[in-house]
Amino acid sequence: MAGVDVVFPPPFPAEMLYARVRRVVPPLAWAGFEEDVGAILALKRQRDAVILAHNYQTPEIFHCVADIVGDSLALAREAMRTDARVIVMAGVHFMAETAKLLNPDKTVLIPDLRAGCSLADSITPADIRRLREAHPGVPVVTYVNTSAAVKAASDICCTSGNVRRIVEALGVPKVILIPDEFLARNVARETGVEIITWSGHCEVHERFSATEIRELRESHPGVTVLAHPECPPEVVAAADFAGSTAMMEDYVTRHQPAQVALITECSMSDNMAARNPDVEFIRPCGLCPHMKRISLAGLRRSLETMTHEVTIAPDLVAPARAAVERMLAF
Ligand code: 13P
Ligand code: SF4
Repeated sequence: MAGVDVVFPPPFPAEMLYARVRRVVPPLAWAGFEEDVGAILALKRQRDAVILAHNYQTPEIFHCVADIVGDSLALAREAMRTDARVIVMAGVHFMAETAKLLNPDKTVLIPDLRAGCSLADSITPADIRRLREAHPGVPVVTYVNTSAAVKAASDICCTSGNVRRIVEALGVPKVILIPDEFLARNVARETGVEIITWSGHCEVHERFSATEIRELRESHPGVTVLAHPECPPEVVAAADFAGSTAMMEDYVTRHQPAQVALITECSMSDNMAARNPDVEFIRPCGLCPHMKRISLAGLRRSLETMTHEVTIAPDLVAPARAAVERMLAF
């Protein structure tokens, strides 16, 4: 499946693991990682734990200790399929909450509680109630980059990987799609559905501009430009393709462009470069400070101390889970 990769279990084959990241991790840096990698692999066995890692995690996490990697949609789907007793989220808080919603009986850990998201912080359940009052009868489609409380106030969730299909499948002329204004405007343009949105932005993707893409094409003639749909519409319009992180990976894997620019978070290019030796990655990219809260040392500590456990207020579990499950039913 695109964007999902199940990694083999230990014993600790340090050389084999380093071979996976050699192209993007210098030997000196690897020397500093090796002990934590070995400890994490052993702790996962002891704790009966799996690590789910988002595509924006650094290569030593993504390629060397994660059991399952992918975009938000893949991580939500795969979280439901694991038999492990403990799930550690190498990603941001809303991803850990989604894993907990789908696995109420498992222990879900996030190594750093500060791993938030500017989109999730932009909207509250009260804002959704006001939107419903202003637009009676219009369904509320909520991006997974939101809190469980916001999901609980919604009709259905979506990710950048399925938003277009979900909006179209609702079969209505008007939809409330929150909280990412740019994602909503990009979907409105693609589907022709009237979309009421919110003023949330991803602090990484909002910074890219069409001028930057133009300059990139001038300095690298023939470069293929792939943009995340959280970018402003003029950036998406200037790109060759727009899609979720898994869709970008799929594009690179299939088309093997000679030169590609992934208009998104920086680790995405590193992770793809490790696997695609014939593709040159040009990097106008942005660092997500929240994703970068997660480190090998943090993952090790999380498994040693079984912190920080993610919990969800009991009254939110059923309605928030229902919104996620409606999405997964697609
Ligand atoms: P994806 O679902 O495309 O992986 O995106 C998640 C995210 O946080 C993008 O900024
Ligand atoms: Fe949130 Fe943007 Fe970071 Fe993704 S990249 S977690 S949307 S702030």
